[in-house]
Amino acid sequence: MRNHLLIALLLLTGSFAFAQGPEVVIPRPSEVILSEGVYTYGQEPSVKVSYVKGKLGPEEYQISITKRGVKVKVSSAAGEFYALQTLAQMTQQGNVKQLQCCEIKDAPRFPYRGLHVDVSRHFRSLDFLKKQIDAMAMFKMNRIHLHLTDAAGWRMHIDSYPRLTSFAAWRPQHTWKEWWAGERLYAEEEQDGVYGGYYTKEQMRELVEYARQKYIEVIPEIEMPSHSEEVLAAYPELGCSGEAYKDSDFCIGNEAVFEFLEKVLTEVMEVFPSKYIHIGGDEAGKKHWKTCPKCQQRMQDEGLANVDELQSYMIHRIERFVNSKGRQIIGWDEILEGGLAPEATVMSWRGTEGGIEAMNQGHDVIMTPGRYCYLDHTQDAPFQEPESIGGYLPLDSVYVYEPVEASMPQDKLHHLLGVQANLWSEYVVTDSHAEYMYWPRAIAIAETGWSQPQNKDLKDFRRRVLPMLEQMRAKGYTTFDLANEYGERKLAQTGLDHKAKGKKVIYNKPIQDWYQANGERTFTDGVIGGWTYSDNRWQGFLSDIDVTIDLESIQQISYVGGTFMQLIGPGVFMPQKVDVLVSVDGENFELVQTVWNDIPTTAEQLLFKEFQAICDCKARYVRYHAYRSTKRGFLFLDEVVVN
Ligand code: ACM
Repeated sequence: MRNHLLIALLLLTGSFAFAQGPEVVIPRPSEVILSEGVYTYGQEPSVKVSYVKGKLGPEEYQISITKRGVKVKVSSAAGEFYALQTLAQMTQQGNVKQLQCCEIKDAPRFPYRGLHVDVSRHFRSLDFLKKQIDAMAMFKMNRIHLHLTDAAGWRMHIDSYPRLTSFAAWRPQHTWKEWWAGERLYAEEEQDGVYGGYYTKEQMRELVEYARQKYIEVIPEIEMPSHSEEVLAAYPELGCSGEAYKDSDFCIGNEAVFEFLEKVLTEVMEVFPSKYIHIGGDEAGKKHWKTCPKCQQRMQDEGLANVDELQSYMIHRIERFVNSKGRQIIGWDEILEGGLAPEATVMSWRGTEGGIEAMNQGHDVIMTPGRYCYLDHTQDAPFQEPESIGGYLPLDSVYVYEPVEASMPQDKLHHLLGVQANLWSEYVVTDSHAEYMYWPRAIAIAETGWSQPQNKDLKDFRRRVLPMLEQMRAKGYTTFDLANEYGERKLAQTGLDHKAKGKKVIYNKPIQDWYQANGERTFTDGVIGGWTYSDNRWQGFLSDIDVTIDLESIQQISYVGGTFMQLIGPGVFMPQKVDVLVSVDGENFELVQTVWNDIPTTAEQLLFKEFQAICDCKARYVRYHAYRSTKRGFLFLDEVVVN
């Protein structure tokens, strides 16, 4: 009776008392051995730290919890810091002041565990940055990459070039989306109602010091040679045209550009003591270089065969300058084009191929492939998420990323420095929205960067991350509500059985190079598309889709349907109409029904529509012909269902 009462009481208060063990810790430690007994402590556990020489790695730690207290062994302050993070997670989750006796041995898998913050598209407060640094430290992340410059605004004061922040840091529109849709102008700082902002050097130094105390290095990124519209509006003489609002790439033929970049980088390196300076290098159009007399002269003088080599010339030159100050450059994987600079570290984002190529060439690499690490994609069903750049990247898909691939050179794996979570912020206007996009997905990257692959387990991670998110919310973080995740499209999870499944598809118009999904089997593989057209389940066409399915025998048919997707941002539209035809002999087809589209091409949200024909017929062949409604747009179809 008394037991029943106790259980009822515990259920009511929800508080089963238990000694806290290390099973809650994120990232999961390398080695844990549980032992008998518990350590009961007072206000705080007693922790005795000893430093050992030459036995443990720089971020490594060992914890021994016995009935008498906690002993920590480390060889460095970072190791001590991480041991305390582990203990903090255990004590904060425990609901009694007891720790399970155990031995923990822990060390990071990779030395680089990064988080990227895009402060250009929307400016972020210093408090926001510090708050993310606090969270990073909890999960043993150790690099914060600040994307300080881009077309949408320059964000750090540079004494030599004051118009970078009195002008290029400001714009008339608050949101990137409105600015991008308009004339993409900049504005004077003192103008009424302008949006923007920048950090003073003092603020950046404050941030560097704040991060340093948490064993996190701040890596500044100064974009070159492209993504530099804002610089070239403030200092038009640095572009090929010499006019504002004409160029996005620096003019590589102009010595003043190197003077500019060297002065800027000098001031940046005075503020940021980081080993690495990120120099961008991505997505240069290089178009004006082909006709610019100065660029052409440079190519002739330097014996450069093409504009890729011209970019490479610039990166090499900047690398020499950065190296001369005792630092090293990181660049996005495009810096491979035209030849890598000798000491450069490559940040692989377009996939992992660039990173693997760089490793093969003996370069260090940081992996941040868009498919797993770009947190700007939507993290749950788009109908209940804030507007994003598109795509679908739920926590599980981030977590399953394995940085070491079979195709990597086994003798060069030491060049794989680690991983990074990136959040581009075109659609992420507020600080709290940014936080929501990071957490918990950045925690998954933190575990991938720290924990050994054999210790990773998705189900167990989800179990650990839920209470962690509750703790974060209690501390004032805005996080995704993982407990109420909707998940992938329901049919995409289960697949679909139907009469055409596994049957041959005849393409009356050829499959195109992009978005081939499962090739000729895509429309009859029973695999239904998910929330994004890039999930290898949707086949994409820049033409009509016109296919005939051979059911192999004459059958009763009552339904023919296929689902299309519309997302106007990247140019994905519904068909204008779909003709469904049937035939017994494969030669003479009879039109069953024309299904017309009724969704406007202006609808902004992600939409799905089934174009379906109901019939009562007998046939062996089913032809499904979708007509494109715009000259430029894609059609995406996942399956042609016949029943
Ligand atoms: C990038 O996403 N352009 C690096």
